[in-house]
Amino acid sequence: MLKLIRKENLDQMIEKAKKAASHSYSPYSHFPVGACVMTNQHEYYVGCNVENISFQSTVCAEVNAISSSIAAGIDHIEAIVIYTPTETPTLPCGNCRQVIHEFSKDIPIFSAYNNGIYETTLSKLLPESFDGLAIKQQSPQVQL
Ligand code: THU
Repeated sequence: MLKLIRKENLDQMIEKAKKAASHSYSPYSHFPVGACVMTNQHEYYVGCNVENISFQSTVCAEVNAISSSIAAGIDHIEAIVIYTPTETPTLPCGNCRQVIHEFSKDIPIFSAYNNGIYETTLSKLLPESFDGLAIKQQSPQVQL
């Protein structure tokens, strides 16, 4: 079941994602993205997109926010905000959806943009996901 996110927590996440977007390193796309994840203890971890001249080495804002929470010892996130200063909401790319899925099977995803906030869930964005069950059957020592 999806946890309800309090407005004060959502406001905090948006503020932090906006600040992270202001630190974006995006000289090639000129498309700054900020992300903020919140844990069940209401701790926040942020990330921004970090591009590279070797384009495939670019890392998305969501992945950087999640990596930062993992480095702090967090193993479950409750919600994620993606912020872009755009006229339409930005949804997580396919790779980010899979990375979010690794740590939370279904969480609310908020895309904050110039005209408001679009709310969706991971299960809507990544239905019928690859969840590794077949690998577990093959190799029972794999922890899921
Ligand atoms: N980007 C993200 O940070 N997150 C997404 O989910 C979509 C794309 C970044 C990658 C790149 O720096 C820029 O947006 C344009 O694709």
